[in-house]
Amino acid sequence: MKIGIVGLGFVGLSLTAVLASKGYNTVGIDVDKKKCKKISNGNSPFFEPSLEKILRNGLKKKLTVSNDFSLIKDCDIIFVTVGTPQSKNGSIELGMIKKSVRSIGKILQENKKNPIVIIKSTVIPGTMQNVILPILEKESKQKAGKNFGLISNPEFLQESTAIRDTEFPHVVVLGGYQTKYMQKAKNFFSKLHPNTSIIITNHQTAEMVKYANNSFLATKISFINQLSNICQNIPGSNIDDIAKTIGLDPRIGELFLDAGPGYGGSCLPKDMKALIKFAGDIGIRPTLLNAVEKINQTQINQIVSLLEKKVGNISSKQITILGTAFKPGTDDIRYSVSIELIKKLLKKKAKIVVCDPKAIENTKNVFGEKIYYDESITSALDNSHCGIIMVQWKQFEKLNNKSIKHMKRKLIIDCRRILANKKLDVEYYALGIGK
Ligand code: UGA
Repeated sequence: MKIGIVGLGFVGLSLTAVLASKGYNTVGIDVDKKKCKKISNGNSPFFEPSLEKILRNGLKKKLTVSNDFSLIKDCDIIFVTVGTPQSKNGSIELGMIKKSVRSIGKILQENKKNPIVIIKSTVIPGTMQNVILPILEKESKQKAGKNFGLISNPEFLQESTAIRDTEFPHVVVLGGYQTKYMQKAKNFFSKLHPNTSIIITNHQTAEMVKYANNSFLATKISFINQLSNICQNIPGSNIDDIAKTIGLDPRIGELFLDAGPGYGGSCLPKDMKALIKFAGDIGIRPTLLNAVEKINQTQINQIVSLLEKKVGNISSKQITILGTAFKPGTDDIRYSVSIELIKKLLKKKAKIVVCDPKAIENTKNVFGEKIYYDESITSALDNSHCGIIMVQWKQFEKLNNKSIKHMKRKLIIDCRRILANKKLDVEYYALGIGK
């Protein structure tokens, strides 16, 4: 069996690496030639734990990485994993997916294997029926369900655990018509993930499941962040103890209750906006989703007002930001709350020093020489009026009295409460802990 994967971002590259390492004859396609070369040499274009190891393992077997679409012409399965980024009005940008599906359509004419095209990219309900299917049929001059299969297969992997999530997903969702192709896809996935439930449904439900999943996760985060803000005004209360306790109720569950500066990344913020826009377009006022989004956007103000309350005017004062990645375990800074915070503080003319174990290069691409970068926590804090912990990197837990010795003012704002139980010679404020 030969498998093609079109689009080598987090989802596509993780899938390519995992399938190739399992011995499938795999071809990874991306329009970016430089990226393909890098991947062919066993190097990932982004940091993701375990990815390079699995990729190199795959490269020793039957893996080809190329920008040449024609290589998919003898594939049995073709996954589409290109990005659907956010456009200005909040909806998703379909340019990349349309382009790749057009190229795939053209090649389907030459493919004698009756392949299955599986769409993993996140798309608004109706996109498969109204956009992808018509393009594929027009370009290939063939019929979906007859000459080729077409399946919606949303992805749930998280960055920083992408390989584990690709190997062991919590569920496999297959959306489409009940044809022989659906049966073939079911057989493929049950062999790949023998212990995982497979849900078979139609295209639009599968597309909506993805938005339901991400918007529920966003709701959990905004819920706990709202409570965290309340706790901050109840002397002695601690949001982590509350989250831990309610998390023991199986109806609630313990995950995604870690209060902080708000959710970021390339998925949750984008998917929330797209769902809100979509709901509006079909005549629904999404009151709850709007509130979740609003809480997320204003969470950053908690940090700024705490900072200004303690430091006063921050103009020309050095502020150290610990963590710029959108979460630990990644170098990804897309829609990172930390980046937004830095932009706000720069407007107030603060001098910014940042430290992040993985994301410094990407941060430099945004701010260049407007801010300062330091690899060491201690020297990043030297001369600072305040250190703000934005990301719960393990490295920051090591912060001690030596690290803060040369701060101008020994003041820490901890958005993740990772130092809450440490005895430090410092003025300490944490989001979600009442003083
Ligand atoms: C998210 C979803 O979790 C994945 O299931 C989904 O497949 C993916 O989007 C996607 O659509 O591609 P990811 O973007 O990797 O995954 O990030 P998350 O781990 O969900 O974290 C998102 C943000 O929420 C981060 O800024 C994180 O710090 C924040 N977060 C998460 C919290 O503040 N508290 C929590 O308890 C959990």
